[in-house]
Amino acid sequence: MPVITNIDDLKRIHKRRTPKMFYDYAESGSWTEQTFRENTSDFDKIRLRQRIAVDMTNRTTASQMIGEDVSMPVALAPVGLTGMQSADGEIKAARAAEKFGVPFTLSTMSICSIEDVAARTEKPFWFQVYTLKDDEFMKRLFERAKKAGCSAIVITLDLQIMGQRHKDIKNGLSAPPKFTLASMADLATKWSWGLEMLGTPRRFFGNIVGHASGVKDASSLSSWTAEAFDQSLDWARVKQLIEMWDGKVILKGILDADDARKAVEVGADAIVVSNHGGRQLDGALSSIRVLPSIVAAVGDKIEVHMDSGIRSGQDVLKAIAMGAKGVMIGRAWVYGLGAMGQQGVTKALEVIHKELDMTMALCGKRDIKDVDRDILLVPEDFEGRWV
Ligand SMILES: Cc1cc2nc3c(=O)[nH]c(=O)nc-3n(C[C@H](O)[C@H](O)[C@H](O)COP(=O)(O)O)c2cc1C
Repeated sequence: MPVITNIDDLKRIHKRRTPKMFYDYAESGSWTEQTFRENTSDFDKIRLRQRIAVDMTNRTTASQMIGEDVSMPVALAPVGLTGMQSADGEIKAARAAEKFGVPFTLSTMSICSIEDVAARTEKPFWFQVYTLKDDEFMKRLFERAKKAGCSAIVITLDLQIMGQRHKDIKNGLSAPPKFTLASMADLATKWSWGLEMLGTPRRFFGNIVGHASGVKDASSLSSWTAEAFDQSLDWARVKQLIEMWDGKVILKGILDADDARKAVEVGADAIVVSNHGGRQLDGALSSIRVLPSIVAAVGDKIEVHMDSGIRSGQDVLKAIAMGAKGVMIGRAWVYGLGAMGQQGVTKALEVIHKELDMTMALCGKRDIKDVDRDILLVPEDFEGRWV
C-alpha cells in the first residue's frame, strides 16, 4: 500500500486508477471554475492562532450533527455516480463512514440503490433528494428511504437546472461509459477498475432505473434528468416536501442569509451552506466566505453546516471555528474511493481526523465543542465589501 499522508495523495492515485471521464466529473466546477478554485483558496487565507502551555491531554473531536452522535463533525456529502469511481462505491463509502462513526449521505443519483446500501450497512444513513416534478416518484422515494431506515433527508435546493461543466460534455460522460475509441484507449490503462466493474451488476442509476416511469435503461436517463428537475420549485414546495417526509430535514445549497431565514421559516432542522462544490453558479462566493453572515443571521435558530472546499482537517476546524456545527466533505472522500475503494475512504477520514485533532491541540483546545472564532486570525476584509 502506498504511503498516504494527505488528501492530495489520494487524489493523485484516484486520477491514475479511474477512467478519465469519472475523474474529470469529480474534479471540475462549472464554466470558468472560479468558485470551485476559491472554495479552497479562501480557506488558505484564514490563519490559526498558536497557543502554548495549555494541557492538551484527553482530547475529543466527538460531537453531534442533527442530534446524532458523530466521532467528528464531518459527514460524507451526497455525490452522484460514485459507483462509477469504484465498483459498488456507495456501499463501500457507507461502510467506511459507519465504521468511523460519521454520517453517510446517499445521493439520488447514486449507482447503488437505497435498498442496496441499507442491506449492506447497519447504521441509518442520510438520503439526499433533488426536487423533482413527479410527485408520485418523490413520494415513492421518500417511502423507500423511510423503509430503508434513513434518519434524515437532505433536500438539495441549488440544482433546479444543472451547471455546465465543459469536461463532461467533451468526455461524453455516461454511466456506464460508452465505448468510443478515446474511452477504450483510456480504459485499457485502467484494467483493475474494469475488472472490478465487470464483477458487479450495479452499473446504472439504482434509485431511478426501474423506479421512475419511462426509464428502463441508462440511455433514456439523461433526457429524463433534464425533464424531471423541477424548475418551478419555490418555498411552498419545499415546505410541502418537509411535511411529506415527516422527519429530520437538512436543506442543502444555501448561500445567502435571506434564504437561510426562509429555511428557518419552513421548519428545517439544519442547513448546509454550500455552492455545490463550485458546480452550479460560477462566480458565486465561496461557502467559507458567506458562512459568518449566515451564522450571524440564523445560527441561534437552526443548525448550520457547511461544505465546499474542505480538503483537510484544518479546513474542518476553520469552518467549525467560524460557527458551523458540522461540515460535509465531497471530493475528499471521492478521491479516497477512486484511489482505494472502502480502504481509501477510511484513509481520507483518518487523514482528516488526525489533522483536525492535532490542529485543535496546537490551537490550545481539547474539545471540538469548545472551539470558537478565537482560535482564528481572519483578514479584516475576508467576507468582502460587496455592493
Ligand atoms: C462529483 C460530484 C457529484 C455530486 N453529486 C451531488 C449529488 O448528487 N447531490 C448533491 O446534493 N450534491 C452533489 N454534489 C455536491 C456535494 O454534495 C458537495 O456539496 C460538494 O462536493 C462539496 O464540495 P467539495 O467537493 O469541495 O467538498 C456533488 C459533488 C461532486 C464533486
